[in-house]
Amino acid sequence: MKSNNLIYVAGHNGMVGSAIVRNLKQQGYTNLIMKSSSDLDLRDKQATEDFFAQHKPKYVFLAAAKVGGIIANDNYGADFISQNLAIQSNVIESSHQFGVKKLLFLGSSCIYPKLASQPMKEEALLTGELEPTNLPYAIAKIAGKIMCDAYYKQYDFDAFTVMPPNVYGVGDNFHPENSHVIAGLMYRFHQAKINKQDKITCWGTGSPFREFIYADDLGDACVFLMKNYSKGGMINAGSGEEISIKQLAKTIAQIVGFEGELIWDTSKPDGTPKKLMDNSKINQLGWKSTTPLKEGLEAMYQWYLKSLQQ
Ligand SMILES: NC(=O)c1ccc[n+]([C@@H]2O[C@H](COP(=O)([O-])OP(=O)(O)OC[C@H]3O[C@@H](n4cnc5c(N)ncnc54)[C@H](OP(=O)(O)O)[C@@H]3O)[C@@H](O)[C@H]2O)c1
Repeated sequence: MKSNNLIYVAGHNGMVGSAIVRNLKQQGYTNLIMKSSSDLDLRDKQATEDFFAQHKPKYVFLAAAKVGGIIANDNYGADFISQNLAIQSNVIESSHQFGVKKLLFLGSSCIYPKLASQPMKEEALLTGELEPTNLPYAIAKIAGKIMCDAYYKQYDFDAFTVMPPNVYGVGDNFHPENSHVIAGLMYRFHQAKINKQDKITCWGTGSPFREFIYADDLGDACVFLMKNYSKGGMINAGSGEEISIKQLAKTIAQIVGFEGELIWDTSKPDGTPKKLMDNSKINQLGWKSTTPLKEGLEAMYQWYLKSLQQ
């Protein structure tokens, strides 16, 4: 990837897309093209084709998607499957048609089978039943991954999929219903601190283990892979560290300064007991994540506090 090549980051306003943009700029890639969904709705095939025909980007990071937590996935499954299928199929097809050299598609560790053996290797995809709560989203993401593979095989189009675990960091979504676990807990603990609550109830037993990656580490992994990986298929990009939800909640409470009691509502579902990815493939290529969880959470909370003042 040359510094003067035109690079399109789809979804640049989002948490992952904005981290990719920061990383590209840091590395001297300044010939970037970005469009908000209000200027270019990627569900619109004709508009997407017109954009690619006009600008002819050389590299594409596909980080535009409809994304949300458990509640949003449960309530809006139709939107998750239809919008993601449309966005990714329009972008992948147009990229191929208008001469893109390489395309990176963002997958997600939540598309691995619910009970995949741990740590999850890339080969575990499609070897077992999926988590039912986000099935429409997962099926759309799997379709995107298979579409990249098929274009790679049939047309020799250099498209591949990156599989991150849960992402957190600057630019995260703190919406009370649509957020993921870290932003959701941070938001609730912050509110509880302000309202001087003495306790807060969290879902489940707190016993499941999860892996998280700081958004800027993922941005770095994506740019690294765009420069160094051309084998198609998919590749995990995680931190390699896991933490129980209970420990995570305690750490966030400490960072936020919420000193009340954490109560665990064990009548609520826990989800998959363990979800850690095998990151040996990307590690062997020479990439490792560098931000410890606590450091990333602190940076995220500072950013959140600043965003409240704007
Ligand atoms: N967040 C996670 O924990 C996580 C974990 C694993 C994988 N991923 C993957 O990483 C990618 C990015 O996720 P994220 O967390 O950065 O999501 P995000 O913060 O919600 O950002 C998604 C972006 O997609 C854009 N977008 C949505 N619909 C669009 C449309 N119809 N046309 C054009 N742009 C559209 C939005 O652009 P506008 O702001 O301009 O509307 C938004 O900024 C997704 O593929 C997701 O599956 C995320």
